[in-house]
Amino acid sequence: MELIIAANWKMHKTIAEAAAFCREIIGCAEKFSGAEVIICPPFTALQTLRDGLKDRSIKLGAQNMHWEEGGAFTGEIGPFMLQDLGVEYVIIGHSERRRLMGEDNTAVRRKLQAALRNGLRPILCVGETDAERTRGETDEVLGNQLRKALGGLALNGSGIVIAYEPVWAIGTGKAASPEDAEKAAAYILHEAEACLGCGDALPVQYGGSVNQDNIGDYVSLPSVSGALVGGASLEARSFSKLIQAAREAL
Ligand code: PGA
Repeated sequence: MELIIAANWKMHKTIAEAAAFCREIIGCAEKFSGAEVIICPPFTALQTLRDGLKDRSIKLGAQNMHWEEGGAFTGEIGPFMLQDLGVEYVIIGHSERRRLMGEDNTAVRRKLQAALRNGLRPILCVGETDAERTRGETDEVLGNQLRKALGGLALNGSGIVIAYEPVWAIGTGKAASPEDAEKAAAYILHEAEACLGCGDALPVQYGGSVNQDNIGDYVSLPSVSGALVGGASLEARSFSKLIQAAREAL
């Protein structure tokens, strides 16, 4: 099973801070073998990471992109531009974009298709809010988000990563229990199978208050193949320890 650990830096780090992170993490990178490690900095630090991580096994990801290949889309970044920077992964449909930037399922689907069309590996985020969870609607919400993103797509699913990120667990320190994460991840695999006919082949990450102490509980779950990490990915030394803890738990 793949072990895919992605760092989502969100709107953090200057160029100088990103360069310092690179210098620290490359000293630890030989201990990451067997794990696919991806760093998704803000767009402004992609070039710095590309230079700083050159010839290392750490991959570059973006946090978002537009679905069009180019044109009059002021303020947007397209898939070609990301490829040009050596980006291999792109986070699509993060709950902060859905909730704060008004990104709907149609936009998420377009972005997912554009990523695949352009050889970028999408990390598709899905997850329920606290209110939806309390109402017992988790499966319904996950199923709806997955069907709207993936339903009827003529592809064999290869390359897609799905991140299960319960909204209430993001940045709160209240991570989902491993039992709940497993239940949701298994449901996601089942839905992906129904949408694409290749559910078993898709890696599902857990995301939401993951840290070096709890990562092992998630990556050892049968349906979970890694993690999407926000706050705990910002400091190189502790992020390295998190990756090592994940490897040791397998
Ligand atoms: P967190 O964020 O690890 O800080 O909870 C995860 C995410 O938003 O991807």
